[in-house]
Amino acid sequence: MDSQSLISFFKEVPLFSHLDNEELEQLSQICSEKKFEKGQTIFYEEDMGTGFYLIMSGQVKIVMLSSDGREHILGLLRENDFFGEMSILDGQPRSATAIALSDIKTMTINREDFTKLLRSNPDMAIKIMFVLCKRLRQADRNVESLAFLSAPGRVARTIMQLADEQGIKDLEKIIINHKMTRQEFASIAGTSRETLTRVLMDFKDEGILDLSSKHQIILVDKKLLKEKIV
Ligand code: CMP
Repeated sequence: MDSQSLISFFKEVPLFSHLDNEELEQLSQICSEKKFEKGQTIFYEEDMGTGFYLIMSGQVKIVMLSSDGREHILGLLRENDFFGEMSILDGQPRSATAIALSDIKTMTINREDFTKLLRSNPDMAIKIMFVLCKRLRQADRNVESLAFLSAPGRVARTIMQLADEQGIKDLEKIIINHKMTRQEFASIAGTSRETLTRVLMDFKDEGILDLSSKHQIILVDKKLLKEKIV
């Protein structure tokens, strides 16, 4: 992408929206575009943090892997989301593994340039802190779910969260388009794949969900789903 197209793109990214034209021009000089194919690992947990990534298109999952290869999904990230900031900020190795869920395009900034950028842009540092707070709140909620909720409760809360974050309203219904496999969905909800399938079928039979398309969950009865979060 040429410098002008990159600047036009940056103007639409909330993280950079306060930067003026000169700063956007400087940003376009220090970043580089990187593409990854669906399923490709962007970096592994414990790697040294060499760069910060902003997703220009596609989806990324942030996971922790057990020694026998099972994965636990910490977060799903989309266009305009960023990742890889933690190890740059605290100098520790990568806290988790990042994997492309679809073909993705990212823009990356190396460690030194990113640190310099933050030092000269307090507004940007505050925006990053804002996102870190949001992720910490989410992580706290996940711990609470695992500690206190039943399996149906965990699935219900995960669907509610997906609906709130990325659902599209369609009259009384909420449509959630996603690219997750059942295994990935189960991992986010903190259940086994078998339990997830059973709970989804129960919710479908009770008229809470419509699951007729593969990459879509339609939330039909939000009130009833909320009552399942116990
Ligand atoms: P870093 O530790 O450099 O590499 C892994 C990245 O995953 C981390 O930076 C964050 O950007 C991101 N990350 C870690 N934990 C979460 C989480 N709970 N939700 C979303 N993203 C996360």
